[in-house]
Amino acid sequence: MYWRCPVCHSPLKLENTTYRCANGHTHDQAKEGYVNLLLAHQKKSLDPGDNKAMLLSRRLFLEQGHYQPLADALAQYITELTASRPQVLLDIGCGEGYYLNHIAQANPALSIWGIDIARDAARLAAKRLPTLHFAVASSAHLPVADESADIITTVFAPISEAEITRVLKPQGSWLWVRPGTKHLYQLRDLIYTQARLHSTDLKLPDTLQLLSTHPIQYSLNLNNSSSIAALLAMTPYYWSASLETQERINQLNQLTIQIDFQILQLKKLNT
Ligand SMILES: C[S@@+](CC[C@H](N)C(=O)[O-])C[C@H]1O[C@@H](n2cnc3c(N)ncnc32)[C@H](O)[C@@H]1O
Ligand SMILES: [Zn+2]
Repeated sequence: MYWRCPVCHSPLKLENTTYRCANGHTHDQAKEGYVNLLLAHQKKSLDPGDNKAMLLSRRLFLEQGHYQPLADALAQYITELTASRPQVLLDIGCGEGYYLNHIAQANPALSIWGIDIARDAARLAAKRLPTLHFAVASSAHLPVADESADIITTVFAPISEAEITRVLKPQGSWLWVRPGTKHLYQLRDLIYTQARLHSTDLKLPDTLQLLSTHPIQYSLNLNNSSSIAALLAMTPYYWSASLETQERINQLNQLTIQIDFQILQLKKLNT
């Protein structure tokens, strides 16, 4: 796999600290090693994606091991998929790199590429995992060639099925982690007067086949206010909560919360 130029789609080559394509477009590598391949017109805001405070809260929460069963299951799926030969994996909406760290440790021969629309996510992930490849890019305009990935992962990330289908090799796998209906129900209940259940409807294009759905459900007991505050601050619910509600939640010392993930395993059919 290589990064492709977002302007003309030609391959980019790294010369010193500049990525260059055959048509003379250049994209500078940041000192942490990631490259910004998001064009101005692909942004819907000045600073898209999760902000630094959300990313650092997510890192703090995840490092406490609360989602370890998901990280282990994902790494295990990938170990099984890569058993026969080294492969190329692209993680879309990689965040600060928690799951890629697990995946890389369990699968050292895997070539791993990650994109996120938030510059701070690419920066944090690249700093943590300097041997992997990271770019700032949108899930709607993946800066990689057609049929170049054996495995795509999306963990609570926005998806474009058209782009995923374009980039996957035929017979390639997509591991799609998404919330089950009851995920974080109690937290949402504290914020919304009528917390809705997550929808798990699925409409797939003909090019993708669902092979399995693996639920991961457990009850998580958070018994200190800093973990509860970190959980709130890493979720989009934070932005829906009034200051008063945020303070009320931040003052809790104990919260038992339903974890409900689904890992969908999909395969790209030959077209
Ligand atoms: C809920 S977080 C999940 C991050 C990571 N996968 C994890 O589970 O720790 C969603 C991530 O998607 C990124 N994101 C949002 N919109 C995006 C887009 N259009 N393209 C790529 N990434 C996007 C955000 O910046 C954020 O890092
Ligand atoms: Zn170019």
